[in-house]
Amino acid sequence: MFISEVNIPVAKEKIDKVGYMDIEVDANLDLFAEIERLKKEKNAIILAHYYQEPDIQDVADYIGDSLGLAQKAEKTEADIIVFAGVHFMAETAKILNPSKKVLLPDLKAGCSLADSAPPELFKKFKAEHPDHIVISYINCSAGIKALSDIICTSSNAEKIVESLPPGQKIIFAPDKNLGAYLVKKTGRDMVLWNGACMVHEIFSLEKISRLKIRHPKAKLIAHPECEEPVLRLADHIGSTTGLLKFTETDVSTEYIVATETGILHQMQKASPHKTFIPAPPNNSCACNDCPHMKLNTLEKLYLCMEYELPEIIMDEELRLAARKPIERMLEISRQYGL
Ligand code: 13P
Ligand code: SF4
Repeated sequence: MFISEVNIPVAKEKIDKVGYMDIEVDANLDLFAEIERLKKEKNAIILAHYYQEPDIQDVADYIGDSLGLAQKAEKTEADIIVFAGVHFMAETAKILNPSKKVLLPDLKAGCSLADSAPPELFKKFKAEHPDHIVISYINCSAGIKALSDIICTSSNAEKIVESLPPGQKIIFAPDKNLGAYLVKKTGRDMVLWNGACMVHEIFSLEKISRLKIRHPKAKLIAHPECEEPVLRLADHIGSTTGLLKFTETDVSTEYIVATETGILHQMQKASPHKTFIPAPPNNSCACNDCPHMKLNTLEKLYLCMEYELPEIIMDEELRLAARKPIERMLEISRQYGL
């Protein structure tokens, strides 16, 4: 189907099946220029996560980690938020700024970590630990957020845990790797939900160790969603923004990067004279892409702006319940100047 022939009810039906506006785009169209035009015409802002493909990062108005993106989504005065990221991120934008139209280029861009915690099972788990406060990583569904007391991201998790009185019993969900890292960093004994990110749990310790031998001056930098043996080897651990900032200010010129490869685009742009080596996973690939993040493409981004579909629609009661723990996170972050 070509753009002039689009029938919106049919397109919506297709979105239910495939997750995006499945329409052929004219190969001669300058998508960069078209996206700029649509931004102006519709007063739209593009918020992109670092794991998006380079072309999408290059057309974005803001690129950031989960905390930065949530803060930007809360404050924007644009009429349309185009979220180039995964579903839980776009959903968080809608929770925080409900009067805006929030678009996601591919509705099927999910997250293995968010999927590892179905709300019904989590409700039972929570009931088994009645006197515990629930801290949930932002990589979860609105249903899990609504069952949580405070949300955190990889850049504020330590401060959020430490903001609770010593001795307070805590459930941490859904990422067991980030949870174990926080237990080690803060000394707090937390009950961990057994979830993990499919990208960060498959880094090969053996291949990373071999890379370190071949590049003795390279520093290993890692995201806290990685498993403990990789984190133990790391010279620096941080959120995506934290890792990027580290490479900008650190004196080394070579890094092995243990997180999704999309971040290398901004690292290379910020420090063109430095070398960034993606940490290899334990399969036949040389780098590690998130299949959910990479469902978004420049074509899908253009189509979703043109037709203002797919849109994030939320139940109002769920939205309000999920908003409370996010607001608590944003308030604590403000107190720490994050
Ligand atoms: P941050 O960008 O907040 O560090 O999160 C990484 C991630 O896995 C997002 O899906
Ligand atoms: Fe989820 Fe991992 Fe992909 Fe991030 S990188 S969206 S945590 S599966």
